[in-house]
Amino acid sequence: MTAPGIVEGERELPTVDDTERLGEELGAQLGAGDLVLLAGPLGAGKTALVRGLARGLGVQGAVTSPTFVIAREHPPSGAGPALVHVDAYRLGLAEDADVAAELDDLDLDTDLERAVVAVEWGTGVAERLSARAVQVTLQRRPDDVRVATIRRLG
Ligand SMILES: Nc1ncnc2c1ncn2[C@@H]1O[C@H](COP(=O)(O)OP(=O)(O)OP(=O)(O)O)[C@@H](O)[C@H]1O
Ligand SMILES: [Mg+2]
Repeated sequence: MTAPGIVEGERELPTVDDTERLGEELGAQLGAGDLVLLAGPLGAGKTALVRGLARGLGVQGAVTSPTFVIAREHPPSGAGPALVHVDAYRLGLAEDADVAAELDDLDLDTDLERAVVAVEWGTGVAERLSARAVQVTLQRRPDDVRVATIRRLG
């Protein structure tokens, strides 16, 4: 079962700070082996949410859009899990691609079983990374408020 403390449902996020704070809350509840799938259109706030995740997990390094790298590794600063941040869109993956195999090819320093793995555009391609997944879908309303839908998968 995925992190039992995760609250499912909808959340309104008027500002980018609210999105980061949601990520921070989630990060504090996730553990090694958990997968976060981030869905939503360009500019919806997926990377902003990962920035919060990093804060909640207490990992090192600045979270930015991994445009030129496939996956960015954030080692833990304490005893907690690392964060691996993947952007499946910029990876240029086909619809039926296998993110697990792609990540395996990268030979990351981070053991994925000891990390929280967050995948932007990961829905449909990254589920097999872990049986314990949380999907966060971010939508942008016409008034620019983001609405997050949080759902446990599996
Ligand atoms: N409520 C909000 N939540 C998140 N971002 C917001 C919000 N309001 C405004 N923004 C702005 O929207 C942008 C979101 O950018 P971000 O890189 O997080 O999106 P993304 O979903 O990762 O995009 P991409 O698909 O290109 O990776 C930022 O410039 C941010 O400041
Ligand atoms: Mg992004």
